[in-house]
Amino acid sequence: MKQMMGIAINAARAAGKILEENFGKCLEIDFKGEIDLVTDIDRMSEETIIEIIRDEYPDHQILAEESEGQKGTSFYKWIIDPLDGTTNYAHGYPCFCISIALEEDGDIVLGVIYNPILEELFTAERGKGSFLNRRKIRVSSADMLTYSMLATGFPYDLRESQNNNLKHFNNFIIRSQAIRRAGSAALDLCYVAMGRFDGFWEPKLSPWDVAAGSLIVKEAEGMVTDFEGGKFDIYSKEILATNGRIHNEMVDVLKTGC
Ligand code: IPD
Ligand code: CA
Ligand code: CA
Repeated sequence: MKQMMGIAINAARAAGKILEENFGKCLEIDFKGEIDLVTDIDRMSEETIIEIIRDEYPDHQILAEESEGQKGTSFYKWIIDPLDGTTNYAHGYPCFCISIALEEDGDIVLGVIYNPILEELFTAERGKGSFLNRRKIRVSSADMLTYSMLATGFPYDLRESQNNNLKHFNNFIIRSQAIRRAGSAALDLCYVAMGRFDGFWEPKLSPWDVAAGSLIVKEAEGMVTDFEGGKFDIYSKEILATNGRIHNEMVDVLKTGC
């Protein structure tokens, strides 16, 4: 696992260099949906990460946001978001990261998230704790929603779908201390893990948004479930991640409406 962590960190740093060097420059932008962007830098970052992983582990499966990835029979699957926070990136707003996770036989066993602007590298291995730049991190100690700072995000289909998180947002904004919508779910999860945020919820995310971050929260002694407090699955469409102490209060609010 140590070697795999090394490869994941190398890949995240190599991709981080690409994101940093091109940040603020003119980008080629395509639209996957009305407000869902992809840039040439997302693709360049993804190619770099996949090349580094494939060089070392040619038989491993790969699930990556911007490409077909690679299917196979290996028990190992790398789950990659080459640029989480593309809308921020395209607007020159410095809040984005690379997220790389490793799934072994259905369980996430390793997660790496790198913010090249702040040079913050979050890492976790199953059973071994979570780290920011090699220093151990843990969740906050806030124990009441009313004093908690939360984070969330909204799905790209929010104009068409009723299930667009606005009701939950309204319910939480009047019950918490503050809510931030920073635009990178992977960083939101890291910030729960290190105590900058006390809780995070979001519907309709994809596995590459949450695979690494959910492990980083769990290994920092946080709690990750679906909106009802049930078992979390990276392939399902709901995530609630908290410091554990405000979890039940957040579940109660989520139960009041979507
Ligand atoms: C998005 C970000 C955002 C979240 C979106 C995601 P992308 O990922 O994580 O915070 O609200 O739902 O899709 O498209 O920038 O990789
Ligand atoms: Ca993403
Ligand atoms: Ca992305």
